[in-house]
Amino acid sequence: MSTERETIGVIGVGWVGLVTAACFAELGHRVIARDIVPEKVEALSRGETMIHEPGLDELLRKNADRLTFTTEMGEVLDAASLLFVCVDTPPTHSGDDDLSRVRTVVDELDADGDHVLVMKSTVPAGTGNAIRRDLPNLAYVSCPEFLKEGSAVADFLHPDRVVIGADPGDEAAGAMVADLYEPLGGELVQTDVTSAEMIKLASNAFLATKISFINEIANVCEEVGADVGEVSRGMGLDERIGPRFLSAGIGWGGSCFGKDTIALKKLAGNSGYHFQLLSAVIEVNELQKRRVIGKLKKHLGSLAGRRIALLGLAFKPETDDMRDASSLVLAGRLEGEGAEPVAYDPIAAGRARQLLPTVELAPSALDALDGAEAAVLVTEWPEFAEIDWREAAGRMARPLLVDGRNFLDADELRAAGFEYEGIGRAVSAAAAPSRAD
Ligand code: UGA
Repeated sequence: MSTERETIGVIGVGWVGLVTAACFAELGHRVIARDIVPEKVEALSRGETMIHEPGLDELLRKNADRLTFTTEMGEVLDAASLLFVCVDTPPTHSGDDDLSRVRTVVDELDADGDHVLVMKSTVPAGTGNAIRRDLPNLAYVSCPEFLKEGSAVADFLHPDRVVIGADPGDEAAGAMVADLYEPLGGELVQTDVTSAEMIKLASNAFLATKISFINEIANVCEEVGADVGEVSRGMGLDERIGPRFLSAGIGWGGSCFGKDTIALKKLAGNSGYHFQLLSAVIEVNELQKRRVIGKLKKHLGSLAGRRIALLGLAFKPETDDMRDASSLVLAGRLEGEGAEPVAYDPIAAGRARQLLPTVELAPSALDALDGAEAAVLVTEWPEFAEIDWREAAGRMARPLLVDGRNFLDADELRAAGFEYEGIGRAVSAAAAPSRAD
């Protein structure tokens, strides 16, 4: 069957679903997208999005005539045979993925042989097989997503690879999905469903491992006087290692790495295997966020009553997503130490308000820095590189900055009068931090 002019169904219009819908529309397909939240569907139908993702609003506007949003599953089933399931699979109390939303969708599907379920949601390996056992007439394809927030539209339209898992009997369905992605280029990996599911989990776990690894190297660099930036550069030039995801900092955040590493560890554990490495990867990440507190105390002594500015709140730049953001841990620890955190983020303040009700939110970076005894750069928003650091130093009660992303020019900051400390960045003797007050 040709997929030309194929109408595509998207079920679940969260971040993945909305990007998927917008990008398929951009490729010329009609898309009917369904969500169970009426307010969301109404807003999207009016052209309003709820998430900040570069390029997304523009695609939705440009392709509005090819996009329909609805709350009715029946409308999707009538219009589309390819159904991209993009519902979320948050962690349960046990750390396993919560598949209840996936199950609800599967229960609503018409297993009459006319529809293909394409699983985009991140699910434990084995989920596809279980669904196929329950609904033997349903064609099932696993097509995990590898989009990064903040560059999701570009990632969708220019994929490194497209993974398509289809088991015997579903080859034609797999080929239909492969055809959809064909115009985008990128290496096509056609495999079985369980291997496709594992590729997704293993990829995120490996990226998380890379970050925890370089963060531990950064911590050792601090002990021996090396610079982790230089170390990353030197390592990354080895093609077997590669330069990406070797930026040391205050650890990963976001809705994916934390959830997926724990889910993979649980998945292994459920089948009797102890995934030791992942336990360390997760623990290193948790401790890395807390190390910032130690750095502040080294300079300031007790943090009680001290105003500490947090520059950036989102888990990474170009998104307003606060899920599992390092800022949440930092703000909580600062308050636990009796400090008075004040924070600024260019776009995540709205979402942060509910999560950090006791943290003062400033209208600009300079306002956050005003009167602060220290600042922590939490998210590497480009605008922080443009701050007039001399003015900032003058406004702060004590110009001390912990750069949690090794984002700023250390020499510039020191020339502006700052005590500067990064993560695993060499501190020259001349610029060594002063002792606690
Ligand atoms: C991640 C993966 O990169 C995507 O491939 C995947 O599709 C997605 O999860 C998902 O499963 O949905 P995302 O969480 O959006 O994407 O963001 P990343 O760019 O991977 O960053 C994750 C965290 O790692 C951020 O907090 C970032 O600041 C941190 N990070 C990243 C580092 O600390 N160092 C690095 O070198 C890179």
